[in-house]
Amino acid sequence: MKKKIILGITGASGSLYAVQLLRCLQQADVEIHAVISSAGRLVLQHELGLTPDDLQKYVAKWYAPDDFAAPMSSGSSKFEAMVVVPCTMGSLGAIANGIAKNLIHRAADVILKEKKPLLLAVRETPLNRIHLENMLKVHDAGATICPPMPSFYHHPESLEEMAAFFAGRLADLIGIEAGGLKRWQGI
Ligand SMILES: Cc1cc2nc3c(=O)[nH]c(=O)nc-3n(C[C@H](O)[C@H](O)[C@H](O)COP(=O)(O)O)c2cc1C
Repeated sequence: MKKKIILGITGASGSLYAVQLLRCLQQADVEIHAVISSAGRLVLQHELGLTPDDLQKYVAKWYAPDDFAAPMSSGSSKFEAMVVVPCTMGSLGAIANGIAKNLIHRAADVILKEKKPLLLAVRETPLNRIHLENMLKVHDAGATICPPMPSFYHHPESLEEMAAFFAGRLADLIGIEAGGLKRWQGI
């Protein structure tokens, strides 16, 4: 049976990271169940000129952010892991404090209680005390905070390549070998 992964896309800058993760996971034998917040939809349109429909080929199913009856709302539905990328400070705050304002927050809450991997690609700068405290809180609850910090040692030649490298690292962190990641071999 295919591994089922939840993808949450929120309204932080960096929609490209979500798109590159979808492309990366397409090469692996996984099923993506995705939710995008209304702010996420806005940023996806603004930064990339894309709508969720444009990403349909990568996704098994899109869920509405208010669909609390979706399978990912319950631990019995057996998802392998969840990635929120990009993750806003608002969604970080909701997840860190167990406030299920939408399906992304609820699914993250479920993933944490089921002790499955939850990656939060949090994006903001600079960070205030509340952001930092929420990151520590959710880290202590079992999530992995992985901000999309660009790396240069693999010599990216485009934004797509830079984002793809980060997406490959996210796939690594949820135990999926997607291929295409330029692994460090030494100088
Ligand atoms: C173009 C744009 C970029 C944004 N970038 C960020 C960001 O990097 N980090 C962040 O925390 N919020 C950012 N925001 C604000 C969030 O979208 C806003 O707080 C929203 O309420 C978050 O809701 P969500 O977490 O449900 O997506 C941005 C908004 C826009 C329109």
